[in-house]
Amino acid sequence: MAGNVNSAPGQAHWSSRAAFVLAAVGSAVGLGNLWRFPSEAGANGGGAFVLIYVLCVALIGAPLLLAETLIGRHGQRSTIGSAAILAKQSGASSGWAALAVIGLIANFLILTFYSVVAGWVLYYVATSLGDVAGAVASGQPFAGAYAGLTTEQVRAQMPDLFADPGKMLIFHAVFAIITTFIVARGVKSGIEVAAVWLMPAFFLLLIGITAYSAVVGDLAAAAAFLFQPDFQRAIQPQVLNSALGQAFFSLSLGGGAMVAYGAYASRETNLSSSAGTIAFADTAVAIVAGLAIFPIVFSVGLSPDAGPTLMFQTLPAAFHSMPGGALVALAFFVLAFFAAVTSSVSLLEIGVGWVMERFKLGRVLTSSLLGLGFFLIGLVSLFSFNIWADQRPLPFLPGFENATWFDAIDGVTGKLLLPLSGLITAIFIGWVADKKLVDPETGLRPGRFLPLWRALIAWVCPLAVALILLFGLFPQLIS
Ligand code: PFF
Repeated sequence: MAGNVNSAPGQAHWSSRAAFVLAAVGSAVGLGNLWRFPSEAGANGGGAFVLIYVLCVALIGAPLLLAETLIGRHGQRSTIGSAAILAKQSGASSGWAALAVIGLIANFLILTFYSVVAGWVLYYVATSLGDVAGAVASGQPFAGAYAGLTTEQVRAQMPDLFADPGKMLIFHAVFAIITTFIVARGVKSGIEVAAVWLMPAFFLLLIGITAYSAVVGDLAAAAAFLFQPDFQRAIQPQVLNSALGQAFFSLSLGGGAMVAYGAYASRETNLSSSAGTIAFADTAVAIVAGLAIFPIVFSVGLSPDAGPTLMFQTLPAAFHSMPGGALVALAFFVLAFFAAVTSSVSLLEIGVGWVMERFKLGRVLTSSLLGLGFFLIGLVSLFSFNIWADQRPLPFLPGFENATWFDAIDGVTGKLLLPLSGLITAIFIGWVADKKLVDPETGLRPGRFLPLWRALIAWVCPLAVALILLFGLFPQLIS
């Protein structure tokens, strides 16, 4: 097999398999788990969505995760460079690597609005700090309704923030600078260090908040909402499309993040067991996050279907009337910030890795240029909440007629470009790439799971993704 091992001069590597898995879990676990999953579950009927989501992860997400990491580990280059090597060594057209550009663009676009949302998180970290100080100053740090605010005032924080582009811009800029700084420091000293410190802290905070929520909140209502599927809803095309899009987004698939991180994994790393661990951890965090958020929301009689405002309006209002809510709110937003940073660095690294390789530029310069780029393009999403709130960029696309710029970029990347790019990856690995190169990379035993994975990647993934994409975009086809 030695002849198949590609090497690139100066290619960085993780210090260990654990570092690789932590960094990849860091990429996967992010705002997608805390903000997007609960809001999508809430908007799509709870249990029905969760059931479809778990199926999408197991049958489509996990096999694709393995496919992406192996492309990177085999090629030892950027996402596009690695796809190009595998295509060439398989005697296939270099057009396959060109298709990887779809993912590259999708991920860069995701980063532009991700940073805006992470900026809101930072804003809530700042305001929660103020609330904790107010609650402590009032002499009743563990009382509800802290800092003399009414629940209505707490709810108003989000519209007030959205109406103020200057405030949003500052927090978006701070988040962009933090992300850029970590990526500029490099794979080992930046991305790996961030994951190794922040992910364990994230898990501790999540366990703490879930325990709190189980004690003070309405756990039974939350569990019923998340785990009792309504099968009528489960087969609706919109639910399928949302669940698939969410699986791609949450597992960082389709855009090449896992190709990029796989390229830094050593030859000894077993990719299939790593992919399983990453997919399991990400799904567990999404469900546990639901079990942290919904009991609190239900216990104060609020509705779970607030959509994207769930985390930034419903939840703070719910925390506000809970004992010790100020502290828990602070812990929650710090946790969300940790999750967001370890994901945004992976989004930036994909582009940085490719630009460095393609244009032979240094890491600090490349990170700074792309950092500035995503910050500036992010303003489009940022202004769609205020200055450009009336603009509807995609009136011609079914399902997007009323979408603002922010909704359009989020929806088109998550529901369209990532699945499309994943579909291409599945076809490439399942049908085009040379099995003799691909199979040994998986770490799967020939007689056992290898045929199962091959069936999933060659048949189930492409068919399911193509059908869901088609019916999601054109629901009239089956109604
Ligand atoms: N998986 C991240 C989340 O759930 O927040 C978002 C993400 C990161 C998407 C990296 C895509 C990506 F390449």
